[in-house]
Amino acid sequence: MSHPVSRRSALRLLGGAATVAAAATGTLTAPAAALPRVRIGPPASPRVEALLTRLTLDEKIALLHGTADPHGLGQAGYLAGVPRLAIPPLRLADGPAGLRVKEHATALPAPVLLAATFDPELARAYGEVLGREGRALGQDVVLAPMVNLIRTPYAGRNFETFSEDPLLSADLVAEEVRGIQSQGLIATVKHFALNNQEENRTSIDVRIAEQPLHEMELRGFEAAVTAGVGAVMGAYNKVNGVYACENKPLLSDILRDGWGFDGWVMTDWFAAHSTVASLTAGLDMEMPSGPYLGGALKKAVGDGSVPEALVDRSVRRVLGVMERFSLLAAEAPARPARDPQAGADAALKIAKAGATLLRNQAATLPLTGAAARSIAVIGPTGKLPFIGGGGSAHVVPDRAQSPLDAIRAHAGKDADVTYTMGEDLYGKPLPGTSAGADFEGQRVAAGVTFTYDGTLAVTEPDEWTFTIHYSGERPKVVLDTTELFPPAPGLGELFGGGLVGTAPDGLEARRSIPLRLTAGPHRLTVTAKGGGKGQLFRLRRSTGATRAADVAEAVRAARAAQSVVLFAYEDATEGADRTGLALPGHQNELIDAVATANPRTAVVLNTSSSTTMPWLARTGAVLQMYYPGQEGAEATAAVLFGECDPGGRLTQTFPASDDRHPVAKEPRRYPGVNGTQEYSEGIHLGYRWYDAEGVTPLFPFGHGLSYTTFAYSGLTVRPDGDGLSVGFTVRNTGSRTGVTVAQVYLGPSPDLHLDQAPRALAGYRRLELEAGAVERVTVRVSARSLSSWDPARHGWVLGTGTREVSVGVSAREQRLVGRGQVPSGAAAPRP
Ligand code: BGC
Repeated sequence: MSHPVSRRSALRLLGGAATVAAAATGTLTAPAAALPRVRIGPPASPRVEALLTRLTLDEKIALLHGTADPHGLGQAGYLAGVPRLAIPPLRLADGPAGLRVKEHATALPAPVLLAATFDPELARAYGEVLGREGRALGQDVVLAPMVNLIRTPYAGRNFETFSEDPLLSADLVAEEVRGIQSQGLIATVKHFALNNQEENRTSIDVRIAEQPLHEMELRGFEAAVTAGVGAVMGAYNKVNGVYACENKPLLSDILRDGWGFDGWVMTDWFAAHSTVASLTAGLDMEMPSGPYLGGALKKAVGDGSVPEALVDRSVRRVLGVMERFSLLAAEAPARPARDPQAGADAALKIAKAGATLLRNQAATLPLTGAAARSIAVIGPTGKLPFIGGGGSAHVVPDRAQSPLDAIRAHAGKDADVTYTMGEDLYGKPLPGTSAGADFEGQRVAAGVTFTYDGTLAVTEPDEWTFTIHYSGERPKVVLDTTELFPPAPGLGELFGGGLVGTAPDGLEARRSIPLRLTAGPHRLTVTAKGGGKGQLFRLRRSTGATRAADVAEAVRAARAAQSVVLFAYEDATEGADRTGLALPGHQNELIDAVATANPRTAVVLNTSSSTTMPWLARTGAVLQMYYPGQEGAEATAAVLFGECDPGGRLTQTFPASDDRHPVAKEPRRYPGVNGTQEYSEGIHLGYRWYDAEGVTPLFPFGHGLSYTTFAYSGLTVRPDGDGLSVGFTVRNTGSRTGVTVAQVYLGPSPDLHLDQAPRALAGYRRLELEAGAVERVTVRVSARSLSSWDPARHGWVLGTGTREVSVGVSAREQRLVGRGQVPSGAAAPRP
């Protein structure tokens, strides 16, 4: 802590012409202060101050922690109001890809697909849908957006967030917050900060230096605050030794004193660890209940360890936001009706705009002429719509179409469209079990326990995958001495991925496990409890032999068709990281075989984040659709048949292998050692690392193909106030309307003796141009993008001097390269 500054005046010039001091933000190494020499903050509005004088201590405390909702609408959190003083309750619902309540809602494309549009206007539209639906569905707060950076390709929630690039993340989060709040719903930016992985997320201690913290992870959070976000959710993890939810450098020095945040900070669910330290550090609300900020807080006020003024400070913040959203008004703002059509329209538009074409050989796509009239659709998610990821981002969608049906509709009735599953999600009936059990659909009545103890005859040694589909309690299945479906780690049991609920016959959950079995009899025991509601389960298996038959069937279908559309999936969820970058199951072998049989194979990826693609060279095309939301089937078909251009670009680098990416082979970086991890890559996250290390990725950040071609020319770089103005001309040189995303990258400043990226995104413009159309584009580079965080000064410094400025179509493909002069001067690096 070196420069105490007042809020809102945190950015000021510091002596030297090229240096701009910013927020006094501490070094993030100080532990939370002992007892309260804390700033209590300015009075809020007269209305809030008047309420504060009338609230009893119990009533104040009730405003600082969650409790059960007496009229539960299925949302994640509930804050009881104070009816005596007409303070209404608050309902808080997830989440990032649509409202998670009991009711149906618009299942929007995953945020990572929104980000792929490189279009802040679409982020606003996305936010508007969340905002309106939240209000319509009885909610007051949405627990979104998530803006943690994509740091590791394995992280289970990469689909819920935007990008590895801080500028792009910041632009999108700000517009999404504006969109949500324009509808009267309070947005919550999460998870503050550095919840960049699921592995050990509730305990991992993230060690990070000031410079990368400010330049990378914090930029998005700051942008959300600048956009007026009402609430911030603290992360589960520790940051430099202190839990994020009781971390004074984060919650007070940076968020309040540095950025002037005047809303409230809530915990992530069950993420509080203390009473005095949390409140003192700047936490305001505990969710979803109150072990620390309920009775314990009352006691702490009673014994003098927490001054009541500190309680008032938090209450003031909560009521202040409620007042801003007119929730304290005599007449509560009217709730709109849902507009499912508007939600569906936005979901479709965004899914089309974010569709990212990674590869397209010999005009495999779009499907036209003979190729569009004879199509083999292969893969489980070719039939099952893959809507969204698992965990708290799960949404009950209004509707979902099968991609196969959408493809059939686009191909027309004269086309021949076949379907084969290829990769079996369901398994085949168990052979050779002793009698007495119906593993194809065993019903267990309520209150009854079913047991089976018999043998399973295996005729040849083989790799078996056992799959169980079940409703109710998960049955216990033991083969020899191995429990096949033990309780899932983390939240996996509760929160399986997007394919979990896709079992047939209304069965709700699916688990599978691969095992190598020897020939001979194996002992199989199954115990299933009927519980209160009864139980139904189905236990099946696939083997090397059944898989070979499935692949052979897919290959036959591929050979018989002019073109193939092969859907591949990867099923990510909150609560668990992926264990590798390959597609799960035997999908790699399937794609290999099918693409070898028919090179006009377009692979559609319903995946959360990057995957490795050992089969890439054999394919005709690869279309990255992520988790495309409830309108995903229509969006996918529209892109496949060329009714719209694939306008998405990668917002994260795709590594070529599991051992060549920023956190590979460095357990101290990821997943951490002995509970601690080091962000020793510094500012070299994502593409910055690949450039700094000279590593060639599979696909670079910013990559994505169009069905047309574009020429770039006429680069100019001029000073523009405290930033730069970059001009260039783009021409659509092809024969159809298409989208290009022009990306302005900035090289390092020769005047700074700080770590700098070889090239960093400093601006961008998504453009749709008709064939032959020309547009002159100007992209502004802000002073913030020209600045670095100087840990010696705890502030931003402007990167002056001659800097390379280039315009590219990915981090690795620069079309125009020039230089810009950044003069010393009064640059104020606002976001
Ligand atoms: C997640 C949050 C979510 C909360 C409430 C937590 O497990 O990390 O993102 O908002 O649950 O569902």
